[in-house]
Amino acid sequence: KPQQNQYKGFQSGVIAAANSDAIFITLNAERTDNALSQVSSVLASCPELETEFRRQYPEADLHITVAVGSHYWNLLSPEQRPAELVHFPEMSAEQSAPETPADLLFHIRSERHDLNYELASRVSALLSGVVSLVEEVHGFRYLDSRDLTGFVDGTENPEGEHRIDVAVVGDDDAVFAGGSYIHLQRYEHDLDAWNRIQVKQQEDIIGRTKADNIEYSSADKAAFSHTKRVSLKDAEGQSVEILRHSMPYGDLSRKGLLFASYGRSPEPFRSMLNSMIRGDEHGHADHLLGYSQAVTGQAFFAPSVDWLMALKS
Ligand code: HEM
Repeated sequence: KPQQNQYKGFQSGVIAAANSDAIFITLNAERTDNALSQVSSVLASCPELETEFRRQYPEADLHITVAVGSHYWNLLSPEQRPAELVHFPEMSAEQSAPETPADLLFHIRSERHDLNYELASRVSALLSGVVSLVEEVHGFRYLDSRDLTGFVDGTENPEGEHRIDVAVVGDDDAVFAGGSYIHLQRYEHDLDAWNRIQVKQQEDIIGRTKADNIEYSSADKAAFSHTKRVSLKDAEGQSVEILRHSMPYGDLSRKGLLFASYGRSPEPFRSMLNSMIRGDEHGHADHLLGYSQAVTGQAFFAPSVDWLMALKS
């Protein structure tokens, strides 16, 4: 599997295989020169922090992906902006995909919750006094990689080297090659309503079987099914793809999916979300949205390791 820095210095977490445990931390930063320089130096130190943890705990497969919010970007880097970085595509008429901007994302993941916690604490201490916490979401692998709806999630994710093609910016944006466009949405599930419907009805909504995770044939997939709504082709007939690093999260009162999309462009995510919410030409929208509500939405850019480290100076 490709290792960190082999290709245009992308952050290792951009394409790494799924882990059992994740912490998604979103923060807002103070608008002062002092805060800006502190944030810059912490972002620049994250690749080294990751290396330090990976060396000390090689079995943990730890990654920290840092990313900068679309609204904050120009404060941090007034001269250079990733070519396609725009704000989260709020679809406010429908109220189903709100935008809730945040300045910074630290997506920490590994096989060990204690190490994720340790690294999150280190980063938080380094940023002390110049940021405020927006949200901290702890994701966990549920059973055999299932979402809390009970369906296996991540099956059709791109694999191997193809993950780089899908998730990593190429040479067409030379300064930002090696970066990745991230969209986050925290979905809250209404599991009582979901669990009241028949398994067959759930399967029709996902477009796959539940227990053994078998894909419906194309002819059997309803226009309102989730996998139908997000399986799109571009003008040249090529599949539109994203790399998902979503994780279930929850406790006894609040449950859902922290949805995370990584892409070489923000466009694939935008068109999928549009297709889920607005539906096809007949207005068939994604019925999964009847059981889960997005309560946050942010657009970030995760720069290459080289770009981050250059913030030090
Ligand atoms: C597929 C769950 C939101 C994009 C799937 C699958 C499940 C699932 C169970 C089938 C297994 C798989 O291939 O991974 C959910 C849940 C969501 C959610 C519970 C939130 C409540 C989204 C969003 C997008 C998205 C917001 C993009 C805007 C995809 C894609 C696939 C997929 C691209 C693969 C489709 C295929 O090629 O068959 N999702 N999803 N999902 N989902 Fe989602």
